[in-house]
Amino acid sequence: MADRQPGREILADKRVVLGVSGSIAAYKAVAVASALTQAGAVVDVAMSREATELVRPLSFQAITQRPVQSDLWHQAAETEIGHVTLGHQAHVVLVAPATAHTLAKLALGLADDVLTTTVLATTAPLVIAPAMDANMYDNRAVRENVQRLRDRGATIIEPAWGRMASGLLGQGRLVEPPEIVEWVRIVLARGGDLAGRRVVVTAGGTQEAIDPVRFVSNRSSGKMGYAIALAARDRGAAVVLIAAPSALRPPLGVELRAVVTAEQMHRAVEAAIADADLLVMAAAVADFRPANTARQKIKKDGHELVLHLEPTVDILAATAGASRGRLVRVGFAAESEHLLIQARAKLERKELDLIVGNDITHSDSGFGSDTNRVVILDRAGGCRELPTLPKHEVAHEILDAALPLLPAR
Ligand code: CTP
Repeated sequence: MADRQPGREILADKRVVLGVSGSIAAYKAVAVASALTQAGAVVDVAMSREATELVRPLSFQAITQRPVQSDLWHQAAETEIGHVTLGHQAHVVLVAPATAHTLAKLALGLADDVLTTTVLATTAPLVIAPAMDANMYDNRAVRENVQRLRDRGATIIEPAWGRMASGLLGQGRLVEPPEIVEWVRIVLARGGDLAGRRVVVTAGGTQEAIDPVRFVSNRSSGKMGYAIALAARDRGAAVVLIAAPSALRPPLGVELRAVVTAEQMHRAVEAAIADADLLVMAAAVADFRPANTARQKIKKDGHELVLHLEPTVDILAATAGASRGRLVRVGFAAESEHLLIQARAKLERKELDLIVGNDITHSDSGFGSDTNRVVILDRAGGCRELPTLPKHEVAHEILDAALPLLPAR
């Protein structure tokens, strides 16, 4: 996810302390340092002595362009880059990989090296990615230490399942660097302009079964909805993503509710908006579904097949009454002609706060595309026409438009 535009990248200019302890996975921390640095963060690496046996400090120094701290008693340790100062300046402290030993020291509050002293001296949020042998991670002592750190507010990135250095299969592998970086973003997002808000986003095209193998659906890829969910998460919102089948991977830190049909999406939306501030209906909901779903596969018999379709519930319209004044509702209008007129009519008919209109006849806009060209209309008659933009930028523009409409808290 290195494709965020400047100004939207949460990591830009953030001070990240990366604590590296002596797990065989320490080499992956180099990739973490690299990704953080490329995203614009200022990365200070603090290594345990054991970690320096596995990866040379010079590797980190070359990537971060900053001196690496590995010796508590080094001459420079009490200067402006000393361990206490590092902790004070940090926006976030990430320990990756965290060995069983380092976890135990952190849980106890021991401070016998640069890494542990930095963690003790910081008030910044702490993110910990444990990595160790599966049996060790399963040990009650380790579990209790992890829980203790979690209870104190640390974010624990659960190790992945897979093959260990020992050859064992189990849970203990350090998660991959991109995922670790995403968790750092999620923690930093707590200071975003949607912090404390609950956002519900729908995405993808619903599928309405004809028989056990066939369905009626549409060309929606889900990209726009997923981009909105990610953007809202990056701005600190608690996000529920109600998604019809899609090939996309849901963003980390977003609560996914997988649905298939319009009816299931309707129920999921009704449940999710009960305590939400913002609903963005980016899903392409089927307007019609087969009146009857055949239990068995329909066989061809040389004759034509007539399908009887019945209308589905208009989910967005149905949310109008229940949520007046509390929930900001944003709809989409995918049109092939008279975009502004059609979009405004939908805004009125569905009593929306905002509608995002897009012209689906353009190849750089709409279904399946990575870009979108939209207009955002509001109730006061405002109309903001945007150029063709990547969908993640469109997502932020939509959230920018919705933000001032959210009820004050
Ligand atoms: N929508 C919905 N439930 C439906 C159909 C649509 O909630 N059963 C939502 C979509 O998610 C979108 C908005 O309504 O945010 C507009 O959908 P669209 O299909 O373009 O408009 P319709 O109201 O169905 O009008 P038409 O099909 O005549 O264009």
